[in-house]
Amino acid sequence: MILVTGSAGFIGANFVLDWFLQHDEAVVSLDKLTYAGNLENLASLKDDPRHVLVQGDIGDSALLNKLLALHRPRAIVNFAAESHVDRSIHGPEDFIQTNIVGTFHLLEAVRAYWGGLTAQEKTDFRFLHVSTDEVYGSLSPSDPAFTEEHSYQPNSPYSASKAASDHLVRAYHHTYGLPVLTTNCSNNYGPYHFPEKLIPLLIVNSLAGKNLPVYGDGQQIRDWLYVTDHCAAIRCVLQKGRAGETYNIGGWNEKANLEIVHTVCALLDEFRPRDDGLSYKSQIVFVADRPGHDRRYAIDASKIARELGWKPAETFDSGIRKTVQWYLDNQGWVSNVQSGNYRQWVEKNYTGRS
Ligand code: NAD
Ligand code: TYD
Repeated sequence: MILVTGSAGFIGANFVLDWFLQHDEAVVSLDKLTYAGNLENLASLKDDPRHVLVQGDIGDSALLNKLLALHRPRAIVNFAAESHVDRSIHGPEDFIQTNIVGTFHLLEAVRAYWGGLTAQEKTDFRFLHVSTDEVYGSLSPSDPAFTEEHSYQPNSPYSASKAASDHLVRAYHHTYGLPVLTTNCSNNYGPYHFPEKLIPLLIVNSLAGKNLPVYGDGQQIRDWLYVTDHCAAIRCVLQKGRAGETYNIGGWNEKANLEIVHTVCALLDEFRPRDDGLSYKSQIVFVADRPGHDRRYAIDASKIARELGWKPAETFDSGIRKTVQWYLDNQGWVSNVQSGNYRQWVEKNYTGRS
């Protein structure tokens, strides 16, 4: 079996759901169930004997030791993190605690467990750390896309905390020989994406008749990847990746934020036209920029294509259509995640911004 952390969040949940569509190997999920962790994402696995969900913190060494001894996983996939840049600007401490200190405790527990395995089990074992392209910093329009050799230049408390965790993972390989893999992926989108992030926020706000807040001039560029393509890439790295290596994952799909906003509006105009016949574009509002806002991310995903044979299955056109449709079909999920907690965040981040 494998142990997956952060599996009640956006990518983790997609990964676990997708895992069971491919094969029957059991999964133990460990998730703290923060505001971003949602049991509803894994509801379809409630009575599935292949899956166990444990509520807990990756920083809880005693719990980790117990889980590892009990379940004896052949691999760990570490998604658990605080993941939202704007939240890291308002309050960095949770990011330091989970992304850096939590990853450290997880690595320590895994190192002790791995040390007790047989020689063959040790060789076969993998610790896969899921990271982000944001650790590489920001590109100018003419710069080549990030390769795995690009220096680390994180600019936000979020990306700095992810960079620190990547360095710890690397050090545990070089110092202790732990067979680690690190993946650095670009922006994901798709089902179960928490509506604090751009694409789900646009869909949810459009349908609620609210403003569509565009930071600054809206010309910042992100490289978008449909979430199940990310999940497939992680499975591929887990299966075929060389221990100690880093793999960039991306969709070869750079788009300015304003283009994303226009695309989402056009799809909603098609699928669910407004009663007054106006386009959802009429809800766009330019608001104060994010402090230290990275201008451009772009991933060069040639290494994973060349060495492991992975490439994305979805185009942006197919992925974004599925995504918008999913949110239209899952309005119950949307209203359940918009708790008091969510409303407080929206007030904190957007009040006084326009
Ligand atoms: P998310 O915020 O939706 O989910 C994070 C999950 O981790 C939640 O279920 C949360 O409850 C859990 N968690 C948080 N702190 C924990 C702790 N201390 N112990 C155990 N569980 C904890 O995030 P996501 O978008 O699914 O991202 C998952 C991973 O992928 C993160 O490591 C993130 O840095 C990375 N990543 C995300 C993107 C993206 O576009 N979303 C892109 C590249 C990499
Ligand atoms: P986000 O989804 O938060 O991902 P990240 O910051 O990790 O790339 O934001 C994507 C882009 O959209 C980023 O350039 C910030 C911008 N953005 C807005 O313009 N308005 C918003 O309300 C949000 C949440 C993001």
